[in-house]
Amino acid sequence: MLPALCLGLVSLSTTFVWGQNPQTIHLQSRVMTPPGSSLRRRALPPSNVPLADFFLGTDLQWFGNISVGTPPQDITVVFDTGSSSLEFASTLCGQACSQQIQFDPSKSSTFVDGGRVTSITFATGVGVDPVVGSNYKLTLRSGVDTVTVGGLKANSVNLFLITDQTPTFNVDPFSGIQGLSATAQGFFASLINQGLPSLFSLFLTPNAIGHAELTIGGVDHTKFNGDPTFATLPAGSSSTWRLVSPRLSVNGKTTAVLNTQRSIIFDSGTSNILFSTATTEAIYSLISPDIKANPAEPGTYGIACSRISSLPAVIDITFTSQAGTPFNLTIPSNELSVGAFTNNPTLCQTLINAFDGLDLVGGSLLKHYYSIWDVGARRLGFAPI
Ligand SMILES: *[C@@H]1O[C@H](CO)[C@@H](O)[C@H](O)[C@H]1NC(C)=O
Ligand SMILES: *[C@@H]1O[C@H](CO)[C@@H](O)[C@H](O)[C@H]1NC(C)=O
Repeated sequence: MLPALCLGLVSLSTTFVWGQNPQTIHLQSRVMTPPGSSLRRRALPPSNVPLADFFLGTDLQWFGNISVGTPPQDITVVFDTGSSSLEFASTLCGQACSQQIQFDPSKSSTFVDGGRVTSITFATGVGVDPVVGSNYKLTLRSGVDTVTVGGLKANSVNLFLITDQTPTFNVDPFSGIQGLSATAQGFFASLINQGLPSLFSLFLTPNAIGHAELTIGGVDHTKFNGDPTFATLPAGSSSTWRLVSPRLSVNGKTTAVLNTQRSIIFDSGTSNILFSTATTEAIYSLISPDIKANPAEPGTYGIACSRISSLPAVIDITFTSQAGTPFNLTIPSNELSVGAFTNNPTLCQTLINAFDGLDLVGGSLLKHYYSIWDVGARRLGFAPI
């Protein structure tokens, strides 16, 4: 999920206080501390958090448990590299959050009301449908409480209670979103201050494989073979996980539009791929001229379901490793279809939505790699799974 603010798509309202009071921390990784340093702190060990796949929705969305408050209340969240704050359904949300587990602040002795009312409008949603206007909007109230993730506890974490939400969220089997941007914030910043190494890893497997997992503070080497390939975040990318790509290829071919440098955001909270209209249509034209925009859902494309499974559609996105050599991240042909459109069951939606001003990959790419999100070293690592 990517807040629209990051894209400069919405003007700031006076109540919009996104990014105010960020917790700033010194991002020195404990494992990098020279041996014998008197400043060396006791390290906090990495921890694994099992993730469930929102299979009935898309097979492109994963969520796991955290607990909030004293005594702890369990809630489920999407671990979202496209956003940075923590927000979840609360008893203040009532009917608008009726399908979700709701945190009750009155039952937590450590909850402190912040009293600040704000909202987030997301530019990319959870499912495969396009974001239209502000159909993915959360209304929030600030607070502070204890947050435990994977058994690791952080006190006094800034968070937001959802007090209202658009119906697009009420269908979700999870209660909220835990942002994990490239600048550590909230519980993660607190754990790093307690000595946790400043990285996390995601194993976002298809439902058929299962065992999806977030590892906070480390890498789970049992989940992949070989060495991951790392690429450095470009200078100035601040809290956004992004890499520069010189080229896209489809079924081994490229075109003038695709053979152009672009900066691609990696967003574990978004299912579909988003590219500018020109890039989207250049990719589809290499797959089939019959993949067409679906005017019923602006930004989406589709083709007859009877034809989609036979179309080769291997998308290679080229990046440059820290060693200076090119490597590809590859989306296989079986990701082309994200299922039939609700109002047209014979038309199948294809995996890229057009969105001008944004290049972003999510679940359909990340589920083919073990990914390492190294906040301290400002790099991303990938190993095929
Ligand atoms: C979250 O916790 C509940 C209750 O303990 C459990 O049933 C569920 O399987 C957990 N979900 C995940 C993804 O681990
Ligand atoms: C990346 O993919 C392109 C297109 O299929 C291919 O030509 C190129 O050799 C690949 N590069 C690497 C390093 O595998």
